[in-house]
Amino acid sequence: MLEKHELVEKILLSTDVINNKIIELAKSVNSYYKDNKEPIILVGILRGCLPFLSQFMLNLKIDCLVDFMYVESYLGKTKAVNKPKIRMDVINNVKGRDLLIVEDIIDSGNSLFKIRDHLQELGAKSVKIITLLDKKSKRVAKIEADWYGFEVSDHFLVGYGLDYDEKLRNLPYVGIANLNKIAILEKRKKSS
Ligand code: IMP
Ligand code: MG
Repeated sequence: MLEKHELVEKILLSTDVINNKIIELAKSVNSYYKDNKEPIILVGILRGCLPFLSQFMLNLKIDCLVDFMYVESYLGKTKAVNKPKIRMDVINNVKGRDLLIVEDIIDSGNSLFKIRDHLQELGAKSVKIITLLDKKSKRVAKIEADWYGFEVSDHFLVGYGLDYDEKLRNLPYVGIANLNKIAILEKRKKSS
C-alpha cells in the first residue's frame, strides 16, 4: 500500500498504473520514429517532467538526445499566469531536427503553445508533444498532445513531478491535493 502524504486527499494514479502506461506510450513513440535517420531530441520541460521523462526514456529503443527548457508558468502557488516566460532554452542546435516535447501536464496549454512556437522558430523539422496528464477541459490555447497518458479532471494535482509550491514533486504517485489543508497552511504561514 502506498503511503498517502498528509496534503493529498486521494491517490489518483499509483506508481504501477503510471509505469504501465509509460511502457505503452514508449511503444507507440518507438514505432512512430522507428525509421528516423537522426536521433530525435527529447525536450523535457523542467521541472515537472523529471520523473516522467526518466521513466519514459528508459523505455525508448530509438536513438535520442535529451535537452531541457524551463518555462515559468505559475506566479502564485496553484494559479497559472497567462503569459509564460522562457527562463532556460535548449542547448542543442535544433535546426532541422525532430523534437519531442516531454511535459508532466497540459492545463490551459499556454506554456506549450509558447514552447512549440519557440522551437519552430528555431527551425525544428518537427515538434511533437507527449504529456503524462492532460486536463483537456481546461484548454485555452489551440494545442493538443500527440501522445498523452491519462486525461484528468480539473483538480489541483501533486506528485510524480507535479508540485505545490515546489514541494511534493517526489511523491511516487499522482494525487489530488487537499486544498483545505493547503489553505490552512497558507494562513498559518501568513500569520507567523
Ligand atoms: P498550462 O500552461 O496552463 O498548460 O500549464 C502547464 C504547467 O502548469 C504544467 O507544465 C505544470 O507545471 C503546471 N500545472 C498545471 N496543472 C497543474 C496541477 O494540477 N498541479 C501542479 N502543476 C500544474
Ligand atoms: Mg510542467
